[in-house]
Amino acid sequence: MEKLFEKKTVLISGALGDIGRAAALAFAAQGAGVALGDIQPEAEARPLLEELKSIGAPCHYAQVDVSDAAAVNHWLQAAEAALGLVSMVVANAATVTIAGLYQVTAEQWSQELRVNLDGAFHVARAVTARMLEQRVTGSVVFVGSWAAEVAHSHIPAYSVSKAGLRMLSKCMALELAPHGIMVNEIAPGYVDAGLSRVVWQQAPEQKEHARLKTPVRQLITPQQVAREVVRLCDPENRHITGSVLLMDGGLSLL
Ligand SMILES: NC(=O)c1ccc[n+]([C@@H]2O[C@H](COP(=O)([O-])OP(=O)(O)OC[C@H]3O[C@@H](n4cnc5c(N)ncnc54)[C@H](O)[C@@H]3O)[C@@H](O)[C@H]2O)c1
Repeated sequence: MEKLFEKKTVLISGALGDIGRAAALAFAAQGAGVALGDIQPEAEARPLLEELKSIGAPCHYAQVDVSDAAAVNHWLQAAEAALGLVSMVVANAATVTIAGLYQVTAEQWSQELRVNLDGAFHVARAVTARMLEQRVTGSVVFVGSWAAEVAHSHIPAYSVSKAGLRMLSKCMALELAPHGIMVNEIAPGYVDAGLSRVVWQQAPEQKEHARLKTPVRQLITPQQVAREVVRLCDPENRHITGSVLLMDGGLSLL
């Protein structure tokens, strides 16, 4: 069967996280070369790089802090030198600070916005600027959250960063539509991994509460998120842009 992304390259930030790793493997399974970036040291990337190589996927890793625009540009240059022009980007890196409006420090607030919002901007802008220069069509997926949809008093910095991301995605979609670059957001609910796991480690009873609160009564797996991210990058998609794929099992309907 023909693969969706033969001879194409995707760049994924936060690639060593649970959703990032699942996305890397899902793109590789569809024939893509994979440029991975994360703030973690290269040694942490070795198992994933080995797994990607074992399925024949061209891959490259760079340790990068997405909140540093210059570092993001260097990452893109290195990725392009190793794998060729990038035509798909998944802005996925994020952190979460569990602290209410009167507990969160000014530094924590700014840091969360610098990583989750500015970081996504630096990554998506760097890649798409290069795509425009080279007249290449392709896709951007921002990994947002249902937290952009519903107020959360224990994670206000995170929620604000994801609400900002939503408008960034729409502005970029409008700007890039005439150039054949589709820009969309995926907004998962409770994923049984990654950032939610951090929250649940501190309050384990919250995990079952989250499952029961979700109308479909199921948590999401990183692989399920990755499958939808891949779908949003289907090269045949020429119309779905500026959209939010709410993947929250009905949480935001409550
Ligand atoms: N887990 C959930 O329940 C859930 C729900 C909705 C949305 N999301 C979103 O999914 C995305 C991935 O999260 P995850 O759950 O896989 O968490 P995760 O912690 O497993 O992955 C996040 C990755 O981002 C990296 N990172 C953090 N700061 C960075 C920086 N400054 N520069 C580069 N990399 C950095 C981390 O090292 C980590 O590998 C995030 O955007 C998150 O907001 C997660």
